[in-house]
Amino acid sequence: MFKDVIVLITGAASGIGFGTARLFISEGATVVGFDLEAAALARTRDDLGERFVSRPGDVSNEADIAAAARFVEERFGRLDTLVNNAGRGTLVQMEAMQESDFYWHYDVLVKGPMLMVKHFAPLLRKSANPSILNISSSAARVEHTQNHFLYSTAKAAMLKFTQHIVRDLPGIRANTILPGWIDTPIYARAGLDEATIKLVYEHALPRIPAGRIGSPEDIGHCILFLSSPKASYINGASIDIHGGYLSNADWGFLW
Ligand SMILES: NC(=O)c1ccc[n+]([C@@H]2O[C@H](COP(=O)([O-])OP(=O)(O)OC[C@H]3O[C@@H](n4cnc5c(N)ncnc54)[C@H](O)[C@@H]3O)[C@@H](O)[C@H]2O)c1
Repeated sequence: MFKDVIVLITGAASGIGFGTARLFISEGATVVGFDLEAAALARTRDDLGERFVSRPGDVSNEADIAAAARFVEERFGRLDTLVNNAGRGTLVQMEAMQESDFYWHYDVLVKGPMLMVKHFAPLLRKSANPSILNISSSAARVEHTQNHFLYSTAKAAMLKFTQHIVRDLPGIRANTILPGWIDTPIYARAGLDEATIKLVYEHALPRIPAGRIGSPEDIGHCILFLSSPKASYINGASIDIHGGYLSNADWGFLW
């Protein structure tokens, strides 16, 4: 279904981005993977083959994004799907917060997607079926995790940003996906050790009616559908994918 389709995924070298790139490529698409981690991108290219085009860069750096847009224009002449997926997060106590904590979150989670849209909108307009997927989080819906306000407010901004894309860039569809617990390296990257990650999953598991932690492909399949012509009337939607976690009244909390 995605033969000749050009997709750009930020954060494509790990987790949800990697799983989504693999699905797109298995369906015939070409994926430009934009990620901070050059070595991980190179491994991804080895794994996924020549239709994975690696483009090292930082979503919080406008020059990197502008250069990536020039690269995509020269190589492909257009972009069909932009997936704003790169992300990171950690816990910060409200009264101990430093200005640098704010920028550490917002530069990647909010400024990055906005600059991506700024620079790639002209290339998306050249597509017959242009769409943008903004990856938010269940954290945008709930307040029960202590010390999580920077990540969760940044992810809440993605919901509003999607609405403004729909309003300001008619012709380009935009939708938000809000993943729940998904098994990826993001928790290790946030500094949690293996034992703590196990504890977090054990705590979450009984509260997920689907009975399992999610996989990157649980999110990737939805991204593929929303970017396809079958979803041509889905515009400005926000899709929660958490196995029923948010319908469970007893979240409890760890911190
Ligand atoms: N895993 C979950 O449980 C979960 C839940 C809700 C939302 N999310 C969101 O899903 C998205 C993907 O997360 P994941 O779990 O796959 O994480 P991950 O850590 O496995 O992958 C994130 C990728 O983003 C890249 N990245 C980070 N900062 C970057 C930057 N400045 N520029 C370019 N690339 C950068 C990293 O190098 C990494 O390859 C994130 O936005 C995350 O907030 C994840």
